[in-house]
Formats: sequence, structure tokens, C-alpha cells
Amino acid sequence: MTFFSFAFPILMKKPMSPIVNNLLIVFCSSAGFSWGAGSSAYQTEGAWNVDGKGISIWDAFSHKKGKIFLNDTADSSCEGYYKFKDDIALMKDMKLNHYRFSISWPRILPTGLKSEKINEKGIKYYSDLINMLLDNKITPIVTLYHWDLPQVLHEKYGGWHNISMVNYFNDFANLCFERFGNRVKYWITFNNPWSIAVEGYETGEHAPGLKLKGTGAYKAAHHIIKAHAKVRHTYDMQWRSKQKGLVGISLTADWGEPVDISNQRDIEAAERYIQFYLGWFATPLFHGDYPQVMKDYIGRKSGQQGLGASRLPVFSPQEKSYIKGTCDFLGLGHFTTRYVTLKNYPSGAGDNYFSDRDLAELVDPQWPDPGSEWLYSVPWGFRRLLNFVKTQYGNPMIYVTENGVSEKMLCTDLCDDWRMKYFKDYINEMLKAIKDGVNVKGYTAWSLLDSFEWDEGFSERFGLYYVDFRNKNKPRYPKASVHYYKRIISSNGFPNQREVESWKRKAVETCSSSNQLLAADPLIGHMEMVTEIVVPTVCTLCILISAVFFMFLLRRRL
Ligand code: NOJ
Repeated sequence: MTFFSFAFPILMKKPMSPIVNNLLIVFCSSAGFSWGAGSSAYQTEGAWNVDGKGISIWDAFSHKKGKIFLNDTADSSCEGYYKFKDDIALMKDMKLNHYRFSISWPRILPTGLKSEKINEKGIKYYSDLINMLLDNKITPIVTLYHWDLPQVLHEKYGGWHNISMVNYFNDFANLCFERFGNRVKYWITFNNPWSIAVEGYETGEHAPGLKLKGTGAYKAAHHIIKAHAKVRHTYDMQWRSKQKGLVGISLTADWGEPVDISNQRDIEAAERYIQFYLGWFATPLFHGDYPQVMKDYIGRKSGQQGLGASRLPVFSPQEKSYIKGTCDFLGLGHFTTRYVTLKNYPSGAGDNYFSDRDLAELVDPQWPDPGSEWLYSVPWGFRRLLNFVKTQYGNPMIYVTENGVSEKMLCTDLCDDWRMKYFKDYINEMLKAIKDGVNVKGYTAWSLLDSFEWDEGFSERFGLYYVDFRNKNKPRYPKASVHYYKRIISSNGFPNQREVESWKRKAVETCSSSNQLLAADPLIGHMEMVTEIVVPTVCTLCILISAVFFMFLLRRRL
């Protein structure tokens, strides 16, 4: 994905401020802190058209040529649908406290509508997964929408562009509460609505691929916010007293740092960057309306375009009070940071979400950039973002729902020292934020497995476990970061710096043997091909030739 259309490199000095220091703070997180790993249905399950599952917008989108890198699809992906027991064994070995996964809406409601058909096989799959997690003392954190809308709802109504999604999504969520809510206590309504809105309805890089510049994202986001609020009210009215769970949302945001911290225009540009990113969703959910700066900028630019109303939709007073205060916890996904400076975009020249912000994004070429082109490792931004959430939204309970780093496809090296460093530094900044008083209750490494990385296909690997996608059994191999993360979990943070270094050495030693296994894998794959395809084909041919020969002999005799 390309988050930074306006980014260009610049050499910067790291900013200094009282809350940032580069020392490793040596302390553990609080008791009861939850360590986990995450995944999502479309990215890992595979089994895209079996056992009664309906088609999602991602199935349809990825099957269109030219949409995904190398035209990859997640038709089989990690085969997580069939291998969830193996995956739980991996989680158990790592001693994860929680596992974050998502439910595929079309797997349990093939046409999207509860009134039309409930697919009991899909329900059983998630029910078995939840039971087995609980049997292994792993808490399920369940996302209801990680981007895989039933295709029928897109074709009939235009997906999130249509207000009718609010009720359909509520029916789907209600069914999940009914069937799984006796066992699931942590619900996330939406994963990263920014991406759904901007990449799905504005730039078209993601499914459903609409390019409705300047309006598409705002409209989709408006309906998503209303849908979240409705689901949370449904939970309150029908399930909370019995099930006693929590309902939150997972918002993803980069941190935006002013290029020049003594320049008021840069400070304001960085503030706009965060407000258009995180604030767009968090401010309505915590305070009842869009950030003032979004209303001002989009309203002014819409006026300059000659439009009678703002392109940013408006909440009525009733809607404001209905959506305000609808998060029991905030899920936060965070990967990277940008420097931000003012850049004016004159109105009229193709207004869109990005130009509405009047800013430019910059990166420091010295920031490590091991995998995805947008993902630079900038750990100090994480602490700043967490502190921003604390002060802006009244110190809510936070679960970090995604944090991690990728590597490029061709890299089959399991000794991922850059990922260990990324985890060490980012977790360390999170621990500092906890010390600052930020109410972080859990951390989710993204992701458990290498998986389908949306429009980048399988070319970017975020997994703790390497998945060999060339082999139809999709074997998993631990990267060094598995061993490292395991130590972090068992010590509930970092007990002391010397130990951290020795974990790293040990992890690297272990990964060399896994590397050898992986190196042998193409051979295994080749042998499988020989036994499963070549041998039967040759045998069939032999039988056919013998039969023809036999017939020929018979004819000559007659
Ligand atoms: C956010 C998305 O929620 C997740 O699905 C994706 O894999 C990561 N970012 C990395 O791009």
C-alpha cells in the first residue's frame, strides 16, 4: 500500500523533546498485560469458495487482472482454514496471551444478509477456533470487519457508500454476538477504517477499487462510524449484561512530527496530519463530531470549488450523542512516522483527501526501511502517538492491535535481526509510554504468519513465521523473531539489557537450523510434485499405450 503519495526524502535531525530519549528503559510492563499476535481472515484463511462461503469484495478484486502485484490472490494463502490447529500449537509454544483474528462476513453470511442464509459450516469453523484457543488459554480478540465485505452488498448497494450497510453490518455483528459472545469478550468492530475509506473508495488501490476523489472516502467513513456506533449500542442493549465483554475499534495511524518544531506552520501541518488520520475516526467516537480542523479545511475548499455544502458529511445533534462514547477500548495499529510540513494545494485542481490536508510528508533517508516501501522504523513516534491518544481522548484503555515490520519477498532468511530490533525498540517505546501514564493493556505483534499483503500480494512478509507459499502444504518456519518475542513475553517486557542481547544471539543461532530446513523445502515440494503429478500421469499413459497396443495386436490376429 502507498500511504505517502507526497513523500520525498529529506535529511533531518531527530527532534529532541522531554518525552523522547534513546535509552533503553529497563523494566517490565504491568501485571495482567496481554501479549499477542494477529491475523485477518482474507489474508490467511484461503478456502475462498468452499463449505458455503460467499464471495467477498477482495475475492472479486484480486481475481481482476492488474489489481494485485503479480496478480496474486488469497484463494489458498496460508490455508489457515484447514491449519488453525497447527497455528494454535505455534501460539501455545510462544505462550501468547491473546490471538487477534477476524471473522469473514461472507463465510458466515454468504449473501451478506442474515435474513437470507446463515452458513452453519462457517459458524462451526469460527466456533472451533475459539474453543481451541480457550482450551489453550489464549484469549480471542475478534475483529468483525477486516475489509472483506460480501461482494453482493457491493454490487447491489455500492458497499460502504450506502447507508444500508449500517443495518446489514449490525445484523452480522448481532449474529456473531449471539453465536460466539458467550466465549468472546473482546470485540473490534472495524479494522483500520482509514484504509477502507481512502484506499477502497478514494484511491481505488484496495477493494472495491472505487476512485471517487474528494468525496468517496468521507462518505464511506461516515457510514462506518455510524455502523460502529450502532453495533456498540446493540451490544449494550442485548448482550452486555449477559456476556460482559468489551467493544472497541482498531484505528491505524502513523505519527506526524513537524519538520521544524519551532515553526508554527509546521506544527499545525503535523496536527492536521494526525487529525485527518486518527482524529477523523477517534474524535467522533470519543467527542461526538469530526475534528474542527477537518470541518474547516474541507468546508473552505468545498466552498472554493463552488459546492453548496462541504464534501465532509455532517452529523445531526442526535447522531453526535449517539456515536459519542462508543468505545470500551481503543485498538491502535501503528507502524511508522512521517515528518510533516505545510504545503498549500490550491482548490479546484483535483481536490481529494490528500490535498484537503495542505501538507507534505517527508522521510529521513537514515531511517531503516527493510521491507514495505512506506514502512520506516521510527520507534520514538510510537511513544508520541500513544501520548497523543492519552491527552486527546481522555486516557482510554488501549490495546495495540498491530505493530510490526515486513521484509521483501525474495528474502528467505529466517534470521530477521532487523525485525528483532524493530520489536525491541517499538516495545521499549510503548513501555516508556506506559510509564508516562498511557493506559496500554496489551500488545499485538503483526503478524503471526506471512500472509497476503493486499495489493502487494505475497511480496511483503510481516510474519513472525515464514510461510512457504510455493509448497501446497504451506509449511510454517519460525523466524528468529519468534524466539525473541517469546522471551519478551515470558519476561513480560525487558528484565535487563544484557539479557536482551543474549536472547538475540540465541535466537540467531536457532534460526540457522530452520534456514537449512527451509532450504531443503523446494526439494520436498519437487518430490511431492513427482509423487502426486508425474507418477500418476506416467502410469495412466502406460496403461493407455498398453491398451492401444493390445487392441492393435488383437486386430491383427483377427
Ligand atoms: C494494516 C492492515 O490492517 C493489515 O491487514 C496489514 O497487513 C498491515 N497494516 C500491514 O500493512
